[in-house]
Amino acid sequence: LPPHLMVKAGHLWIGGQDTVDLAQRFGTPLYVTDEDRIRENFRRLAGALTAHYPNVRILYAAKANGNLAVFRILASMGAGADVFSAGEVSLALAAGMRPESLLFNGSSKSPADLALAVEKGIKVSVDSLDELRQLNAAAAEAGKTVEIAFRVNPEIDVPTHPKIATGLATSKFGIPAGQILDAYREALDAGHVNPVGIHCHIGSQILAVEPFAREVEVLIRLASDLIDIGVDPSFIDIGGGLGIPYRRETDRAPTPEDYAGAIMPIFLKGIRDLGIEPELWIEPGRWLIGDSTILLTRVNSVKTAHRTFANVDAGFNLFIRPAMYDAHHEVVAANKADTPPQREYSVAGPICEMGDILASDRMLPDLEAGDLIAVLDAGAYGFAMSSQYNSRPRCAEVLVAGGRAALMRRAETIDDLIATMLTPPW
Ligand code: LLP
Repeated sequence: LPPHLMVKAGHLWIGGQDTVDLAQRFGTPLYVTDEDRIRENFRRLAGALTAHYPNVRILYAAKANGNLAVFRILASMGAGADVFSAGEVSLALAAGMRPESLLFNGSSKSPADLALAVEKGIKVSVDSLDELRQLNAAAAEAGKTVEIAFRVNPEIDVPTHPKIATGLATSKFGIPAGQILDAYREALDAGHVNPVGIHCHIGSQILAVEPFAREVEVLIRLASDLIDIGVDPSFIDIGGGLGIPYRRETDRAPTPEDYAGAIMPIFLKGIRDLGIEPELWIEPGRWLIGDSTILLTRVNSVKTAHRTFANVDAGFNLFIRPAMYDAHHEVVAANKADTPPQREYSVAGPICEMGDILASDRMLPDLEAGDLIAVLDAGAYGFAMSSQYNSRPRCAEVLVAGGRAALMRRAETIDDLIATMLTPPW
């Protein structure tokens, strides 16, 4: 178990709180996030990079966990944010992040998105020439100039799930390497956009450092070409993607020090040779937040069929990673945490789909209705990807810190479900 989780008196504890008490007090299902763990993760990652080079900026990938309390914690650590929507922009600004520390990303920005970036003075990672022209026109209209990067597609194959490998030649993201210089040339001439950076992201949950090293090589070559056409890059953003060891026994995950050790020498030699001193930006989501959070879910019933099922109250409505990516998350019997494993269970949710299995064939203590299961490493792309499928209100989120626990999101109610619905007048 990571240090913020421990077993005490037979129960799983997180951040100094007994999960059995938390489930009692706040109800289940329940996401529980340890604030100190987020801070520690941030310090560790930032420290590993700044040990090589001081000009590093960390942009929290807001999509990983969109809770305002989480934004506030990261803002207080000095993070900016990689934002993909008007909602993420608003949350980041509400948390006190400065507009200049945000990068508005995405391959399909609406006219309203572009107008918002112009109005707030947020840098934009431009993903197509069409978007460039629209952004330039929006900036001209407002009498402003917007600082931009282009998102370059590095055409790098990365070892991860195909749904989250974003830097492949076939990806919907980024501008192909063969078109990127023309894009910068057009931006230089456009009048109301100022190309000041380079942006790239190769994929997510990457458990090797070599792809990042190759990515940095591509970006340094691009920086060199950009200097030739008159662009002096003030930041190089290598995106996020550093993976975490979800399979705690067997995954070999690079540490932040491994990551920094693989990319920084290439980056530093590259910029020294070019005679530039750009900021290095990274956009971690999962690494900052993934292991900070558990999902507590109550056993409703147990059934032995061709397998033994523990039917719990959280399904892929609340946690879709196992169904969507075949993701493996460790599960712990939170109220029997020091009972030795006795039998194999599949932990199944309440949704009316076969794919609603949170964990398959795991050795757990004998379970019965009322037992409490904790799904580990649920902080990134957990609540953030939840839905109301099967008309299930979303659950609450609790933050724990320094021996205290408080709601950071109340549970939705059935009334909340109905509140946005209207009856057409015929
Ligand atoms: N920057 C950009 C442009 C991204 O698209 C992403 C993630 C990140 C940064 C952060 O990546 P991270 O450091 O968290 O790996 N829902 C999937 C992951 C989707 C990632 C989308 N983009 C999952 O649950 O595995």
